[in-house]
Amino acid sequence: MSGIFDLSGRVAIVTGGTRGLGNAMARGLAEAGASVVVTGRKQDACDATAKELAEQTGREILPVACHMGDWDQIEALVERCYGHFGKVDVLVNNAGINPAFVPVVQLTSELWDKVYDVNLKGPMRLAALVAPRMGEAGGGSIINVITQGAYMGGPGVGVYTSAKAALLNLTRVMATEWAGIGVRVNALAPGPFMTDMMRGAAEAAPEAPSRKPGAFSAAPRIISVMKGPGARAFTRTPMPAHSVAITRVRFRSAAFADV
Ligand SMILES: NC(=O)c1ccc[n+]([C@@H]2O[C@H](COP(=O)([O-])OP(=O)(O)OC[C@H]3O[C@@H](n4cnc5c(N)ncnc54)[C@H](OP(=O)(O)O)[C@@H]3O)[C@@H](O)[C@H]2O)c1
Repeated sequence: MSGIFDLSGRVAIVTGGTRGLGNAMARGLAEAGASVVVTGRKQDACDATAKELAEQTGREILPVACHMGDWDQIEALVERCYGHFGKVDVLVNNAGINPAFVPVVQLTSELWDKVYDVNLKGPMRLAALVAPRMGEAGGGSIINVITQGAYMGGPGVGVYTSAKAALLNLTRVMATEWAGIGVRVNALAPGPFMTDMMRGAAEAAPEAPSRKPGAFSAAPRIISVMKGPGARAFTRTPMPAHSVAITRVRFRSAAFADV
């Protein structure tokens, strides 16, 4: 791959890279030339993903288990990445959970803390550890994966979408705080994709409203567009579904041929 999508020599972290959208984005980044750190909670799943992606793309893939609700593990992840590669150019804060559709009146303190720890507090901590070091190295790109629901809310997704809405706001804060050190921060707001997360939540509440899932192969292409030299001017930008649609049109021939 060459031109504006070329990520040769770059190092990217994709949290939750073992399955779903994160896995598709990790593959897309590696196909574009980046070395990739894939994380998830289980080391054996990270190892298997790294082996598969390395065989498929020929890139170096570093598997590191890291629970995004555990600050000590997040610090260890950052040290492992810098110890191994000496730098991080791209951080995709992708790992996220929506264990079940739960109406507001039934929300428990435990579920609230669990979802906020993984979907908001963990990504904040990881970005806060990486951004200054990115800045010292000349800059970098952070993408926080939110959801279209962050703009809309909806029945049963109060804890999930409010955490993602907070992450969207935090993205804007980070982008303005770190613009001066060359670290761009954007949010990516996917629509529905039929991943394990969606399947699990849907099984827990089969009557919940759903929309047609998106084409899985879109995710790595969108992320490549946002990471490469062609995206130098992007910061503080949420990429909701309608923006993705615009991106699709603009980049259709180069990036969305199979969507
Ligand atoms: N799928 C959709 O329709 C959709 C729509 C909008 C936004 N999103 C967002 O897109 C992101 C990815 O979702 P997905 O549907 O691809 O999910 P998924 O298929 O369930 O994959 C989740 C990934 O995150 C990891 N993970 C889960 N809990 C974790 C934790 N506590 N710490 C670290 N890693 C953890 C999982 O690995 P382990 O289980 O091994 O830890 C897995 O690699 C999420 O932020 C989600 O909110 C998804």
